[in-house]
Amino acid sequence: MNWKSLVPARWRGTAPVAAAQALTPELESRIRESFNEAAGDEEHFPATIDPRIFHVQLILNQFGDLSGRRVLDAGCGKGRFARILRERYPLAEVWGADISDAMLKCVPEGIRTVQAPMTRMPFEDGFFDAAYATESLEHAVNIEAAVAEICRVVKKGGQIVIIDKNAEQFGRLKTPEWERWFHRGELEDLLRRHCREVSSRFISYWEDVPPDGLFLAWLAKK
Ligand SMILES: C[S@@+](CC[C@H](N)C(=O)[O-])C[C@H]1O[C@@H](n2cnc3c(N)ncnc32)[C@H](O)[C@@H]1O
Repeated sequence: MNWKSLVPARWRGTAPVAAAQALTPELESRIRESFNEAAGDEEHFPATIDPRIFHVQLILNQFGDLSGRRVLDAGCGKGRFARILRERYPLAEVWGADISDAMLKCVPEGIRTVQAPMTRMPFEDGFFDAAYATESLEHAVNIEAAVAEICRVVKKGGQIVIIDKNAEQFGRLKTPEWERWFHRGELEDLLRRHCREVSSRFISYWEDVPPDGLFLAWLAKK
């Protein structure tokens, strides 16, 4: 089949939209092993991030004051974003979920962690006031299920931010075979199944540098 026929015109993309895939136990274990190994690579998987980077600022701006609120970092890695949220709001309850135990071992104290794929998180419906996923949804394989699960654990009225890469730029970086990048409208449509207000925008690392098309942020209110 010609993949272009799978892409609705409004997505105006050039990369294929993958058919729904299952995160089989074998693939889940392969991805976990890969990230367990990657945890030792501090250069490419750093434990900290400059808080001035726009990806961080966008999440902080979107969520507002998190004091006394519960927030989830889905696919948190070493918790570089969660660390900043926790430092900024010591009274927030910050959780990190990740498939990789080695990544979770690097998450700073004070952040609660759980080892779980984002398609199957051990939280009650509406447990969180807010949730975000930065460059992790791209590894979730069953994207539809992962978006549904992130939305499920956020309470009505809660905020969701997803930062990930643009499918139109796929091929620009080396990627493992399970990795997916997203068309703008594709994730908007998935989020709209669960959220009332959904938008997306291109972003770059620095607010005053025009986006080069690699990163997109999807913002949603449940
Ligand atoms: C590129 S890293 C990004 C980590 C972190 N969000 C950040 O920005 O620093 C991707 C992370 O997603 C995690 N991951 C991959 N597949 C996952 C899944 N199905 N469920 C939860 N986490 C997953 C990996 O273990 C890894 O820590």
